[in-house]
Amino acid sequence: MQKLLVVSNLKKYFPVRRNLKEFFSPSYIKAVDDISFDVMKGEFFGLVGESGCGKSTTGLILAGLLRPTSGKIVFNGTDITFTKLKGDMRRKIQMVFQNPFSSLNPRMRVGELVLEGIIIHNLLPKSRLQERLAQILEDVGLGMEFSERYPDELSGGQRQRVCVARAIALEPEFLVADEPTSSLDVSVRAQILELFEKIRRKFGTSIFFITHDIHTVKTYADRFAVMYLGKIVEIGKKDEIFSSPAHPYTKMLLSSVPDFDRVIEEGRYDLRGIQGEPPSPLNPPSGCRFRTRCPYADSLCEKQEPELKKITETHFSACHFWNKIV
Ligand SMILES: Nc1ncnc2c1ncn2[C@@H]1O[C@H](COP(=O)(O)OP(=O)(O)OP(=O)(O)O)[C@@H](O)[C@H]1O
Ligand SMILES: [Mg+2]
Repeated sequence: MQKLLVVSNLKKYFPVRRNLKEFFSPSYIKAVDDISFDVMKGEFFGLVGESGCGKSTTGLILAGLLRPTSGKIVFNGTDITFTKLKGDMRRKIQMVFQNPFSSLNPRMRVGELVLEGIIIHNLLPKSRLQERLAQILEDVGLGMEFSERYPDELSGGQRQRVCVARAIALEPEFLVADEPTSSLDVSVRAQILELFEKIRRKFGTSIFFITHDIHTVKTYADRFAVMYLGKIVEIGKKDEIFSSPAHPYTKMLLSSVPDFDRVIEEGRYDLRGIQGEPPSPLNPPSGCRFRTRCPYADSLCEKQEPELKKITETHFSACHFWNKIV
């Protein structure tokens, strides 16, 4: 497989100025703190982690909607790190957001929403627009009968399909999906996920799928990265990570599934594994950032930050004691 996107040492620090002293020398939220990875052509890549760990910040940077503090992003051989994406490059990278309710203009009809990008980028002659619209709506599981409707005449799942339709209308090579299913009903989530998979298969689009629930990506992801407080702590093929997680945080995420037997018996979820709250990204722990919640932590973890180390050709972990936990 060929590499589509190569990300090196990416950082995004947000300055915080809460008082006069910080006005002159701000503290920084290290939302993304030196992450490196690549995404292959046609790959379904998952980015997983708890709320606030820097997933959306990473997604926005990759989609060209937020400038990084430093680092390098190479897309198809072109360095796009600090360039404003324009023209064809703007078309090739698209993003679908978490909330389909706020990402569609309520005054535009579905047909206009889907065709807007095609018209802006001048991709088709006017005479072919309706034919293209019908095909895109079919691809996302909506018929032409939806083209005259306004967003508020649609269900959440249907709106998210329109958002996906808008993105794929431009035939992107890279699609960032930031928790696109989290505001939807459980039954609709699976359908939307399947839609992304279908797009990947049909058009060879690389999907960068952001989620806080590691189990969401279980079916479709080829590889994924686990993020904790701005850092990637584990990265690898899905099967490797699910069968032998090499970071205590990944283990924790994997074990935090609802215990359905208990749900049935006692009517409540047993969130085994999830312990404590993540520390503030303004003041992360020294050494390994996960050590304050880690059952394996010892004095080395306090002193020395673990680097992302190679375990197999495709599997990396940032834990001093990864071989104790696999
Ligand atoms: N524009 C901003 N200014 C200041 N801080 C920000 C900004 N955007 C994000 N942050 C902070 O950066 C950190 C990472 O935020 P981000 O939205 O990337 O997290 P996330 O992993 O997407 O979380 P969630 O799962 O809740 O969406 C958080 O601490 C957040 O408060
Ligand atoms: Mg987010």
